[in-house]
Amino acid sequence: MMQLKSVDLKKTSVDALIIPVCEDKEIHNLRKISSLIKKAKSLNEFEGKKDDLVILYNLPGIKAERVIYLGLGKLEDINIEVLRAFAGKATKESIKKKLSNILIAAPAGQNITRGIKAEPHFIIKALLEGACLGNHIFDKYKEEKKLKPLTGINLLLKHDATDQFKELPAQVEALCSGTILAREWISTPSNDKRPEQFTESIVANAEKVDLKVEVLDETQLKQKKFGAMLAVAKGSESKPSLICLEYSHNDAQETIVLVGKGVTFDSGGINLKPQGALEDMKTDMSGAAVVAATMITIAKLKPKLKVVGVLPVVENMPSGNAARPGDIVKSYSGKTVEIGNTDAEGRLILIDAISYSIEKYKPEIIIDIATLTGACVVALGEKIAGIFASDDELAEKILQSGQDTNERCWRLPLPDDYQKLLKSGFADIHNISDSRWGGAITAALFLKEFTDNKRWAHIDIAGPAYIKKEEAYCGHGGTGFGVRLFCDLLEKL
Ligand code: BES
Ligand code: ZN
Ligand code: ZN
Repeated sequence: MMQLKSVDLKKTSVDALIIPVCEDKEIHNLRKISSLIKKAKSLNEFEGKKDDLVILYNLPGIKAERVIYLGLGKLEDINIEVLRAFAGKATKESIKKKLSNILIAAPAGQNITRGIKAEPHFIIKALLEGACLGNHIFDKYKEEKKLKPLTGINLLLKHDATDQFKELPAQVEALCSGTILAREWISTPSNDKRPEQFTESIVANAEKVDLKVEVLDETQLKQKKFGAMLAVAKGSESKPSLICLEYSHNDAQETIVLVGKGVTFDSGGINLKPQGALEDMKTDMSGAAVVAATMITIAKLKPKLKVVGVLPVVENMPSGNAARPGDIVKSYSGKTVEIGNTDAEGRLILIDAISYSIEKYKPEIIIDIATLTGACVVALGEKIAGIFASDDELAEKILQSGQDTNERCWRLPLPDDYQKLLKSGFADIHNISDSRWGGAITAALFLKEFTDNKRWAHIDIAGPAYIKKEEAYCGHGGTGFGVRLFCDLLEKL
């Protein structure tokens, strides 16, 4: 669907040629594009200021039906994310105009970036990413599909560049279809992704790309004594499962385990959430969606690693059989946990998944990702994930991947002296803190108790997993935050 093209504009018919225009400098290296920009700038209504837009129809000398000019602002303000957002906007504008194929003039050539401070490889990748992600529409539940995704997205480049970067479109398509798969799972309502259905959907998608799949069902979870996870699942009529997805390269030296929180609906349990906090809790399986989608993506990209995705999947419901506040359960590790609050359920399913994966896969590195705490959203807002890590080098790499993908992360501390806030009078540990403050930190410290001194990081995505207002390359709903981050990180490990 996406291609790099070096074509003669006189002969190429497309619905739209899209040109990013810089306010103060020339960023293109194709003469024809520069002359088309001159034409637009000669009109007083378009200067190339950020988000300026003008459309010219049936221009002489080119076969494109229209040229859409989009302003990028000043050259010094252009970065990779500005380019991703531009391409997303270009796609969205074209979809709104009911177009089906577009050609985007890329401001990059072989070794040439005309002043943009990034390598051509990253410029082209960002444009493809923004365009592909912006082309996703979640309208499964609409009777009338008002908008249709584009069927052709092409980047216009000089011939040398189309050759040099010819691998990129397929790679970016794999990456973006992973992100989109996670978005679709997250946006699906909880009545259509009860644990059995969500498990089935993950397994079906994983088998298509030949991942090794193992699922522990409720009976096996009971046999193996996943006491903390089963306590969360008890209140629901739906049955829990633990899904393990394995990818292994022949040259792999290290094993990395990714654990994702898969609560298909978090009502809070007996500590029922109030109105206002319940409505978006279909997104509480975002961690599992992101890990499953990452596994499916790397099965296509084939990094030289062994990676295992471990997904505890449950529904947290109140009922006559639900776990009660004050209950004490024995976790998979053998440690007992007092459940002070049934709404702190994510950490209960994660610790059993973490202990099991350390025992079974003996990983060098373990990273979990979860919509874990409202406190993390209070601390960092809705766009930035909280990172906690027992290992500085791992934390640095995650932060770097966060910058490179614009899935932004900020490291928060794991202070030893806060651990005592999790003391229980009766059990080995309490699932809630004594203090009402620092909830994201105490949740992470709770997990850390079960990581066996491994190199471990925890990513709290309660904020960025979901957006309510559409953005440049993401619509209302699940964002898939974490898939691009993980895929980038796995390349850096
Ligand atoms: N799933 C929630 C966290 C959450 C909040 C995700 C907002 C997305 C948006 C989690 O299970 C939860 O309820 N956490 C509690 C913990 C508390 C009871 C210690 C919270 O954050 O309030
Ligand atoms: Zn909860
Ligand atoms: Zn939750």
